[in-house]
Amino acid sequence: MRIKAPGLIDIHSHLRDPGFEYKEDIQSGSLAALTGGYTTIVCMANTSPVLDTPERIRAQIKRFETLPARLCQAAAATIGQQGRELTDFAALKSAGAAAISDDGQAILDAKVMYDALQAAKAVGLPLMTHSEDARIPGRGAAAEEYMVARDLTLAKYADAPVHIQHVTTAKSADLIRQAKRGGTAVTCETCAHYFMFTEDLRRVKGAIAKVFPPLRTQRDVEAIIEALADGTIDIIATDHAPHSREEKARDWDSAPGGMIGLETTFAASLTALYHSGALTLPQLLAKFTDNPRELLGLPKTDDYIEFDSDEEWTLTEADIKSKSSNSPFIGITFRGRIKETVCVK
Ligand code: DOR
Ligand code: ZN
Repeated sequence: MRIKAPGLIDIHSHLRDPGFEYKEDIQSGSLAALTGGYTTIVCMANTSPVLDTPERIRAQIKRFETLPARLCQAAAATIGQQGRELTDFAALKSAGAAAISDDGQAILDAKVMYDALQAAKAVGLPLMTHSEDARIPGRGAAAEEYMVARDLTLAKYADAPVHIQHVTTAKSADLIRQAKRGGTAVTCETCAHYFMFTEDLRRVKGAIAKVFPPLRTQRDVEAIIEALADGTIDIIATDHAPHSREEKARDWDSAPGGMIGLETTFAASLTALYHSGALTLPQLLAKFTDNPRELLGLPKTDDYIEFDSDEEWTLTEADIKSKSSNSPFIGITFRGRIKETVCVK
């Protein structure tokens, strides 16, 4: 069936620009976004330089004006994403930042996190956290779960909203479910790779399967799908994280973490969540449209997509508009495909 829906919104993309244009830039990233049905995307601040000053945010947003998609920019929460000193959230907001996030890095110091929660609330910007302690060996489930528990606790006591990025484990989802029931103002996202794959993908795909947080177990996959279905997980984000062929050809330990996702996340979600019967189509669409729009406080637009909910297609490298092709989905058959994306910017 051919279905029309609002333009999709991705709250979590790495377009690598400035500084790592060999992986992606704002032009190629915009084309990848439109191919995947996205008309609005929020770019993360872990560029080079890190986007941690109002001047940098202003200059970045100026560059977005002529692009065919609506790009928004997140600003770093701490100077240089070092986790020590907060950036000036009020000035970053005046400069046009859409959100605050140190994504790629956790804010390990609880006091800094507490202050960030209060400062983000004061200026009315969403604070998005990469809640994962990379120092825990193997970045196992505990590395994520204790940070999620910490951030929920801090948000509750700061009486401030928090958005937890890329939730991947059964326990994280359950902590968030309980916090929501208890009245904590928490929203969260997961990504398609966390409900499509398990840690076993490493044996098949090598470093293409490396991502932070890591892929988990089948039990976690099932719990993430349940949490999407019961509303615990509000948003499906891409965490589009391009890396070059050479970087991903390295051995497991030296390869960077990350997968591209702009072109595949919606198709993967239709396949694994809608056609499986786990979510209805309105439930699924809300996680790509209304829920991210409300988190960002964006107005409705006339942007729209048309997709075929049943078309079967197999992803090949030729389908990829991104400068990088580090996708775990190459060779995977999806059911559901974007046919048209209209951004009326
Ligand atoms: O896998 C990841 N890649 N996780 C992150 O948090 C950062 C991202 C990147 O920037 O490559
Ligand atoms: Zn990310």
